[in-house]
Amino acid sequence: MASGSGSNFEAIATAINQGTLNARIEIVIYNNPNAKVVDRANRLGIPVQLLDHRTFESREALDEAIVVALAAAGVDWIIMAGWMRRVTERLISAFPRRILNIHPSLLPSFPGVRAVEQALAAGVKIAGCSVHYVELVVDSGPIVMQAAVPVLPNDSVDTLQARIQQQEHRIFPEAIAIAAQINSSKIDKS
Ligand code: GRF
Repeated sequence: MASGSGSNFEAIATAINQGTLNARIEIVIYNNPNAKVVDRANRLGIPVQLLDHRTFESREALDEAIVVALAAAGVDWIIMAGWMRRVTERLISAFPRRILNIHPSLLPSFPGVRAVEQALAAGVKIAGCSVHYVELVVDSGPIVMQAAVPVLPNDSVDTLQARIQQQEHRIFPEAIAIAAQINSSKIDKS
């Protein structure tokens, strides 16, 4: 699921194509008609489906449509790669412990929007990104993997964000593999 540029989506697709992540992307759900992720998906031959939040009467109604679309596509996991909508219990309960999100901060610091701006404003010297399970409270679920980057004296939001994104692209495919591994070992034991 993506709302914007889709660089994390492409990093995941590349890891799959290179054989470093054993997974398959069945569908890309996007909510913003202008999202660049569509161009990337088209180039990679991955199906896309637009579910524009503005055409739904509630968050629950959007999430219901997402659940239906993902069930039809036969997906096991949801990967939120820059999905900019808050999700509801409707989506979370349909995929228990099978939704991952990436956030551009070292959680639990700086949850929510404009995380990179928040980090710069706070004057931290180390920033980073986190891959975590999705729970109802935004950016709150258990952390799977993190990466840290230095904040340099002349950093702008753009330069720091670019440094963080390089790490996002590295850790997201790895975190997906780790989470899938944890889940399958739990199933094995039961
Ligand atoms: C990433 O920085 C991610 O941390 C945040 O949204 C951004 C998405 O970037 N949740 P992209 O669309 O993957 O390029």
